[in-house]
Amino acid sequence: MSALPATALREVFGLSHAVALITGAASGLGRACALLLGQAGAYVAVNHLPGSAAAAAAVCRDIEAAGGQAMAVAADVSQQEEVEAMLRQVVDRFGRLDILVANAGIENGAPFQDMTLQQWQQVIDVNLTGSFLCARAAIRQFLRQPPQPGPPRANGRIVCMSSVHQIIPWAFQANYATSKAGVAMLARTLAQEFGPQRIRVNAVAPGAIRTDINRPVWETQAALEELLTLIPYGRIGEPRDVAQAVLFLVSDLSDYVTGATLYVGGGMTDYAAFRGAG
Ligand code: BGC
Repeated sequence: MSALPATALREVFGLSHAVALITGAASGLGRACALLLGQAGAYVAVNHLPGSAAAAAAVCRDIEAAGGQAMAVAADVSQQEEVEAMLRQVVDRFGRLDILVANAGIENGAPFQDMTLQQWQQVIDVNLTGSFLCARAAIRQFLRQPPQPGPPRANGRIVCMSSVHQIIPWAFQANYATSKAGVAMLARTLAQEFGPQRIRVNAVAPGAIRTDINRPVWETQAALEELLTLIPYGRIGEPRDVAQAVLFLVSDLSDYVTGATLYVGGGMTDYAAFRGAG
């Protein structure tokens, strides 16, 4: 998962004994974050939908095989009661919560004139309302628990998984792009609101990363070549590219960083089509 051995990861990023909840962690970016934070010493709660229990259990086994501790916890992040029950389970098992990676997200695009209310709401519910519900539950827990012993550090850290589409408009994905613009503003607003309590809130905005959510844009050579015209850095991202950015933002190395978006897109937000044009 990472070039650095686990002992070095623990030393550098200092997550030993921190408790991290990662939503949507049975696959894709969430899985990569769970594995890397586990290697860096965090106790990891691997959230998943009920239908992904086997995949989540496999992520937990991988974390444990690398010497970490993990639990799987089922919840649909768009459902208030399920999110609250999830938080209770995590705190029952690990005693506290230090880190939330609000990663769970979906796409369900359509030409705008054909987009149904149900399609619109499903994406907003999971991506935006899910981030709200998980961040609220995490912040309530951060506020009620004593700070971790040890040197002064943040009393809680949240990373919201956004997207380059928080600023790049995305035709046929109006629900998704709107949800991610909302996620970005949620993160900044929470950073402002909870700075005085030393709770840090940041966003990571991935570009095209090789996961199942965007398989059609990378699985054939022709599609990949077309995709690469959008990426100045000339390669597709891998899940670990995103996990490494998340690890930085949840660690004390970024203790003075809050309200920021870290773009992980190989320069996708920098108008690749303008190279030699305009
Ligand atoms: C989407 C991917 C897409 C990427 C770049 C991400 O937020 O989930 O499907 O490839 O943005 O467009």
